[in-house]
Amino acid sequence: MIRFDGKVAVVTGAGAGLGREHALLLASRGAKVVVNDLGGAVNGEGGDKSPADQVVDEIKAAGGEAVANYDSVASREGGAAIVQTAIDTWGRIDILICNAGVLRDKSFAKAELDDFEFVFGVHYFGTLYCAHAAWKHMIEQGFGRMVFTTSIAGTSGNFGQSNYGSAKMGMIGLMNTLAIEGFKKNVKVNCISPGALTRMTGNLGMDEDFMAKLRPELVSPAVAYLCSEECEATGATITAAAGGYGRVHMFETRGVQLDPKAGVTIEQFAENFAEISDLSKADPCTPGAEGKIQERLDKLAS
Ligand code: NAI
Repeated sequence: MIRFDGKVAVVTGAGAGLGREHALLLASRGAKVVVNDLGGAVNGEGGDKSPADQVVDEIKAAGGEAVANYDSVASREGGAAIVQTAIDTWGRIDILICNAGVLRDKSFAKAELDDFEFVFGVHYFGTLYCAHAAWKHMIEQGFGRMVFTTSIAGTSGNFGQSNYGSAKMGMIGLMNTLAIEGFKKNVKVNCISPGALTRMTGNLGMDEDFMAKLRPELVSPAVAYLCSEECEATGATITAAAGGYGRVHMFETRGVQLDPKAGVTIEQFAENFAEISDLSKADPCTPGAEGKIQERLDKLAS
């Protein structure tokens, strides 16, 4: 059985929806949990302590340990204070789940730059501030697990979600480098790309049977596994919705190699564009570009 005894977890935005389920699951398996939630509306306005308090009460009623924190992830001080709550209460932080989120959807033609800054503040910078504050503790103790909450709106785009989608994609960039930097110190950093019916999604207006399957608690086992000692993966983006799970990754096509000595014309590039873009022949992106460049040059030489 995968358990979290002795581990201290911080879950942001844990007063409702997905974050609440993550917090309840980790606590039920022995983790001590900081339940962070500002308690605002879906668009980020307002604040209310009761969502975080209720989740803490639920955890305690089930025999677990939890403490509430009401700071916003969207400031340097807030991110630091959230992590500090774990240190002050239990002297350590082992697990960080960055889940807090808001929406300010508008088509790009109508997009306000203020909304971009607000959405980036919660999603991208909120993740960064918490991760930055937790990092030194995890590196020093030689153990840490982080899960950032990305979205298909980032990995594939979605009409009206240019601010949200780009902030969500930024987290994947952050994860990619933290996974490399944390590797030797057993600090694993992964992303979850969830799908669940919550107050954020509202009633999607889809088939009732389909929507009934989009239960937030079906996302939490994937998140909990990524937070466990047993998890050896790092730098992975895992999709989770309705009990279906997969992995999203960037690939580069095999492409073509033209002669670097002779030079390349625009027309040569155009003639080869179909093969350059042929996704049926592609390999997963890995750190460092030299290998791929050399591989193509070797092919040309042979
Ligand atoms: P939700 O609206 O039920 O929960 C989000 C929680 O974050 C709320 O309790 C809210 O008070 C809290 N929060 C918002 N701003 C905060 C801040 N500045 N500081 C601290 N807490 C804050 O939404 P849901 O669906 O549970 O979303 C959780 C995460 O999953 C979000 O990051 C969301 O973008 C992401 N996500 C959700 C999907 C879904 O299908 N529900 C799909 C893709 C991503």
